[in-house]
Amino acid sequence: APPPLVDRFGRVHTDLRVSLTDRCNLRCTYCMPAEGLNWLPKAEVLSDDEVVRLVRIAVRRLGITSVRLTGGEPLLRRGLPALVARLTELGPEVSLTTNGIGLARTAAALQQAGLHRVNVSLDTLRADRYAEITRRDRIADVLAGLAAAQAAGLAPVKVNAVPVRGVNDDEIVGLVEFAARHGYRMRFIESMPLDAQGAWDRDKMITADELLEILGARWDLVPVGRHGNAPAEEWRIAGTDTVIGVIASVTRPFCGGCDRVRLTADGQLRNCLFATTESDLRALLRGAAEDSAIEAAWRRTIARKGPGHDINSADFVQPDRPMSAIGG
Ligand code: GTP
Ligand code: 5AD
Ligand code: SF4
Repeated sequence: APPPLVDRFGRVHTDLRVSLTDRCNLRCTYCMPAEGLNWLPKAEVLSDDEVVRLVRIAVRRLGITSVRLTGGEPLLRRGLPALVARLTELGPEVSLTTNGIGLARTAAALQQAGLHRVNVSLDTLRADRYAEITRRDRIADVLAGLAAAQAAGLAPVKVNAVPVRGVNDDEIVGLVEFAARHGYRMRFIESMPLDAQGAWDRDKMITADELLEILGARWDLVPVGRHGNAPAEEWRIAGTDTVIGVIASVTRPFCGGCDRVRLTADGQLRNCLFATTESDLRALLRGAAEDSAIEAAWRRTIARKGPGHDINSADFVQPDRPMSAIGG
């Protein structure tokens, strides 16, 4: 086994999140403006061969065991099943985080390519509200995508929702019931200051404490804890096998156990979602660097990783790229 990818706090990194595109076919209000963003020119986006080479280095030389494909919206990437097949062949567990649009068409092919699981974003069950939040009238595609993923055996299918006060916070119980009915796993994410507009409002965020109060008023919840270093803390509804996850990045930060490193669609390595610097692996790739040089750059990037995010401090500054460009 290769020496672990370890930082100066002793955190071992085994999880790589790879953004495959910065583009999205939705315009979620908490994420980006209606007109979209200045998308990366195609030439700046890593090719399939380049992604495969970096993942091979990550797996063979750096001890990465799990790869999460993100965006933007990763299903917008042409030929995704073929890329997934090349990545799974390298050995890691490969999973996907998507808004679900187009998943109905590709779920079976992705499963055949070796994809393990999908997480699908869905903030509301009401078609009109979905269109308001995402600025696109596509909820039917998402529901069909969820069902197709389940049918294809990409289980457990997880549903991610970001509850926002006054927007969808009246659906917290309803979303859990929906997920339980279909055999999906429901998760709620505290909204983070990572939007393109810089309009994050702490008072609009539904905290983990609030969520647990709302859920606890409806059901008896049994704490399950956290799987390894996973961001989600879980609770089970007593007497059932329904599990609810809460990702409380802001009020219960989990940086101390972070095992993640991120690659942006344009080949920049980030040691944190909130990092203020990136390391240009694309320049190395395109400059004919040896694998050993890329490995060394990667290790240096992890070596300078900070202790964690600063969201709760008075002088927090948002990273210069929004979540859609970094990969969630
Ligand atoms: P599994 O639990 O393995 O299914 O995946 P996951 O929860 O790590 O992946 P997913 O892409 O569904 O992530 C859900 C959300 O968790 C992301 O959109 C982020 O909001 C949050 N998240 C994931 N990784 C990190 C991280 O390293 N730091 C912080 N602060 N939030 C993260
Ligand atoms: N804070 C928290 N979660 C966010 N997501 C998008 N933007 C933010 C944000 N600012 C969520 C999406 C999706 C997941 C990948 O990240 O809703 O569920
Ligand atoms: Fe890791 Fe940064 Fe996320 Fe904290 S905020 S868990 S350090 S990626």
